[in-house]
Amino acid sequence: MKKLVVSTGAGISKESGVSTFRDADGLWENYPVMDVASADGFRRNPALIHQFYNERRHQLQTVKPNAAHLGLVELEKYFDTYIITQNVDDLHERAGSKNILHLHGELMKIRSLRDESRVYTLTPPNLDTSVDTRDKYGDPVRPHIVFFQEAVPNIEPAIELVEQADVFVVIGTSLVVYPAAGLMHYVRSGVPVYYIDPKPSPVPSFVNVIAEPATKGVARLIEILTKDK
Ligand code: OAD
Repeated sequence: MKKLVVSTGAGISKESGVSTFRDADGLWENYPVMDVASADGFRRNPALIHQFYNERRHQLQTVKPNAAHLGLVELEKYFDTYIITQNVDDLHERAGSKNILHLHGELMKIRSLRDESRVYTLTPPNLDTSVDTRDKYGDPVRPHIVFFQEAVPNIEPAIELVEQADVFVVIGTSLVVYPAAGLMHYVRSGVPVYYIDPKPSPVPSFVNVIAEPATKGVARLIEILTKDK
């Protein structure tokens, strides 16, 4: 089977009801990003960051995967499919995708501040953490999120996947946050690249742009990729 690698951003979850970051009324318009999503912000005011991610977790319980997430699961019938997501939501997991690599962490997880290899999954109704939360070793915790000013540990395996791709697809990202935005430059020459976004950012000419929302764009992608199958 050919290898399909799909890189997703906030736009794929928009039609589920999850806000993007940089669109009008996006999250970063209402919350200063350096307060709620940076390493400095966490040092300055950890309580605010706990509260911000508590709210995000509660919101996530009210939404469901949409036809774009489900369409990527359908493509597993035709391709060895891998998802690299910048999203911290769990909508690809809930849709049923098999291979998911989170570049920017996971909303439903927290980790020890003393030992970052101690990662814990939260389950409803226990979704809230605070500066007073302790893990079973008595250590304080933080959201399992890659803050601005921090390294992106999963970028190496992500690059390896893109280098092996026979088809590469980018969905719903403004392509402004690096290193994720640079992934498309690792495709081998001749590999088809598609970018689905209703307001696509400028991309090199080798990229096939599908200027549609994710649900419609993924339906179109499935037609294109399975027409000879
Ligand atoms: P952005 O908010 O920067 O970009 C969202 C993209 O989704 C834009 O290009 C929109 O045009 C597009 N979009 C809007 N509606 C859509 C729809 N229905 N279908 C498809 N696309 C749609 O979000 P990201 O590029 O994902 O990091 O942001 C990257 C990172 O910046 C995030 O992972 C987050 C943020 O700071 C962290 O918090 C660590």
